[in-house]
Amino acid sequence: MFITFEGIDGAGKSTQVNKLKRSLQERGREVLTLREPGGTPVAEQIRELLLEGRHDISPVGELLLFSASRAELMEKVIVPALESGCDVILDRFFDSTTAYQGYGRGLNLDMLSEINRIASHGIRPDITFYLDLTPEDALMRKFSEKSLPLAFESEELDRMENSGLEFYQRVRSGYHAIQQAEPQRIVTIDALLSPAEIHRKIVARLDDFKAASGRKS
Ligand SMILES: Nc1ncnc2c1ncn2[C@@H]1O[C@H](COP(=O)(O)OP(=O)(O)OP(=O)(O)O)[C@@H](O)[C@H]1O
Ligand SMILES: [Mg+2]
Repeated sequence: MFITFEGIDGAGKSTQVNKLKRSLQERGREVLTLREPGGTPVAEQIRELLLEGRHDISPVGELLLFSASRAELMEKVIVPALESGCDVILDRFFDSTTAYQGYGRGLNLDMLSEINRIASHGIRPDITFYLDLTPEDALMRKFSEKSLPLAFESEELDRMENSGLEFYQRVRSGYHAIQQAEPQRIVTIDALLSPAEIHRKIVARLDDFKAASGRKS
């Protein structure tokens, strides 16, 4: 299965990716977890440019860098893993591009959908878990994690995270629009629930999905 996680920074994606990996492995599945951007030597260098660097990158440049990283990861890692029967859990995928570069930065959504299709080699996730919370709550989490005073711009945040509160509000409403357009694929979960409760919901939805699609594992 190809499972993706979405949500604004600090929503709890990595926490849930790790929990899901363990529970699928306990059921005897082979599981590969990855996060975007990155996952191949070239894609990791692109990640550094996009996140660690303090360069000013144009919106279309940013879009194409994220997409180049995705194209690499798909071709070299994800497609072979799925073909070998592995479950792949991916922390961010093309819905992030639509939400951040489309709704957040204002790039044309039709252009994005075409670029997303090319970069993902036409492959779509079987199921996507979208962890929903307000940017304020997300930021509070990030800063409490680092024991820092709350601020919407900080040296402690990466280049994307420093895009400001209004940007994140647009990204969040973008995610809502994406979910409404594809309600069968995208499952929204309240990210303010406890990690264990979120995990239980995810496992239950996956079991329903497998039962409905006739999968055994
Ligand atoms: N359900 C939850 N309730 C409360 N705190 C949580 C929950 N899930 C995760 N956290 C905490 O919130 C912080 C962010 O979680 P996590 O790193 O999993 O989010 P993320 O979506 O992967 O963030 P990023 O986009 O920055 O990678 C961590 O300190 C984590 O322990
Ligand atoms: Mg994370």
